[in-house]
Amino acid sequence: MLNVTPLAPALGAEIRDIDLSAALSDVTVDELRAVWLEHQVLVFRDQKLSDAALVAFSKRFGELDTVPGWEPFSAQGYPEVLTISNVTQEGAAIGVLGDGEAAWHTDMSYIDLPPPASLLYSLEIPAEGGDTCFKSMYAALEDMPVDLRQAIAGKVLNHDASHDSSGQLRSNHVLAKDFSQMPGARHPIIRAHPETDRPALYLGRRLNAYVVGEDMPDSEALLDRLWDHCDQERFVYRHRWQPGDLVMWDNRCVMHRRDPFDPAARRIMHRTQIKGDALVVAY
Ligand SMILES: [Fe+2]
Repeated sequence: MLNVTPLAPALGAEIRDIDLSAALSDVTVDELRAVWLEHQVLVFRDQKLSDAALVAFSKRFGELDTVPGWEPFSAQGYPEVLTISNVTQEGAAIGVLGDGEAAWHTDMSYIDLPPPASLLYSLEIPAEGGDTCFKSMYAALEDMPVDLRQAIAGKVLNHDASHDSSGQLRSNHVLAKDFSQMPGARHPIIRAHPETDRPALYLGRRLNAYVVGEDMPDSEALLDRLWDHCDQERFVYRHRWQPGDLVMWDNRCVMHRRDPFDPAARRIMHRTQIKGDALVVAY
């Protein structure tokens, strides 16, 4: 029986009294999956995970995937482990995303089969700043004004692949002028979560997003209204990191962002993600 403590009204639960470096039974993993599907974000404090242990635990939830273009920032000997860090060694960054703010996003929504789950493990964290916020896109959809929901019903969004969540142009892309033509993937704005069957908003990220088939001003106006609606603290869980935290979230119903932090501080996180294996359909 898992020790589950909900963290915020809309999403998030902490699981206590569990050592993720141990060999977990299939029953325990099934229980974790069920609690994760319900709470959308799981937090495990005080873990001691080697990269091998992080990979082993992550693999209990599916095959692992890498991020195209970010392969040079994988952990030594573990291509499935991405380093998220501002630290440099001999002038070269050891990881991605630096020390700035990372805007609200869903991991890799710009591909057809985005990762259903991401797992982030903290090795070194700054004394302050660098919190990660998570937002329930179930809750954002459920509390939506009727006319706004009608306005997005049946609509499809183009998700731009060219920029990362810190706003940087990815190394394997060039800048396009017309963002209705941005390279990326198209997904329904309201999707049925494939495991829970609950409808969820799927917005990816705001930068260069485009509502397919709309004139650009109409697309911008609709997206602005949608993002304004989602900008409510009651949909959010804020995670204040400690070393040894593992946080696992469901990209199919959760967005996340990161606060900036002192560039002089060190922050080192290791991340894995589960490979997407099925197209998620409109609700
Ligand atoms: Fe992310």
